[in-house]
Amino acid sequence: MIKLPGLIDAHVHMREPGGTQKEDWDTGTSAALAGGVTTVLAMPNTKPPIFDVRNLDLALASAKEKARCDYAQFLGAGPDNYSDIAGIAHRAAGLKMYLDMTFGQLRLDDMTLWQKHFQNWPRNMPIVAHSESRSMAAVILMAAIYDRPVHIAHISLKEEVLLIKAAKERGIKVTCEVCPHHLFLTRDDIPAISLGHPGRGEVRPRLASKEDVGALWANLEVIDCFATDHAPHTLAEKDGEDPPPGFPGLETLLPLLLTAVSDGRLSMDDIIQRSVINPRKIFSLPEQPETWVEVDENAKYEIHAEDMKSRCGWTPFEGWNVKGRLRKVVLRGEEIYRDGKILASPGFGRNVRS
Ligand code: DOR
Ligand code: ZN
Repeated sequence: MIKLPGLIDAHVHMREPGGTQKEDWDTGTSAALAGGVTTVLAMPNTKPPIFDVRNLDLALASAKEKARCDYAQFLGAGPDNYSDIAGIAHRAAGLKMYLDMTFGQLRLDDMTLWQKHFQNWPRNMPIVAHSESRSMAAVILMAAIYDRPVHIAHISLKEEVLLIKAAKERGIKVTCEVCPHHLFLTRDDIPAISLGHPGRGEVRPRLASKEDVGALWANLEVIDCFATDHAPHTLAEKDGEDPPPGFPGLETLLPLLLTAVSDGRLSMDDIIQRSVINPRKIFSLPEQPETWVEVDENAKYEIHAEDMKSRCGWTPFEGWNVKGRLRKVVLRGEEIYRDGKILASPGFGRNVRS
């Protein structure tokens, strides 16, 4: 049995308000605990999106009532909220800027709006950018111009990891995260994930080539965080017309990483750095006293969606054989998960920004 600190997932979609057929703060934080995650940072592309104090209050009220692990909620960068949200920044996980198309249609096309957000958002609060390829290069330039940190969400391409490496070498304050699905899957896996339903393979950023995935592994020292981009959609939605992009990921994060440790591709320290120490520093998160997870590093099992807490009911890793199983989660001295059972009550989780 190995003891690890409670993991931090800086990129999850809890779907509340507006998408609770996919997930809510109860099922989403239960999925977090079942993945060894004791802090989640929730994205703002809900319905309505979290663009103002009213909707921030709405999301935080649901979280307060239902969350079973600790949490914070991002505010979204909208077309006209750059001055209003500065005053409530301290209540948010950070500012999320959507600079490319994805679920929720929050893309900011106009670069003068990017500038306004960079100028108005408090310097001590994080900015996270969904920015792929060339828009990633553009937002890194903007961070350099305004001399403030920017965190790049879910990098997936060789050109991205190499550009971030070069930017870091020049002293630009850029950090980045990678998702398990971009480390363990390539576009060649799409047929096996889809099983004849092409929507199941849809995710943004898209699954990449073997060469891209190889470059992420070869440049692991450039990658600051592992984050799941847990993006639950129901199977009916994924298999329907106009399927939304996104994979659930909270419950497969730790077994996939532990399997990589067993295969000699990662060390335990690599996991702790990227799932605890770096996200805590980048997002200024408090220590969680008396908090740890216990894993049986030798337990082998098969991943099945039917064993999961997420409401979405599927996983792109269905049937995968993994080695390393979560046994126990303790948060603030309370045992809140054991062998598949969630023991924390709704509302046990705390807002780390309050
Ligand atoms: O695939 C994705 N799904 N990528 C994102 O950036 C958003 C997410 C979602 O909210 O479903
Ligand atoms: Zn996301």
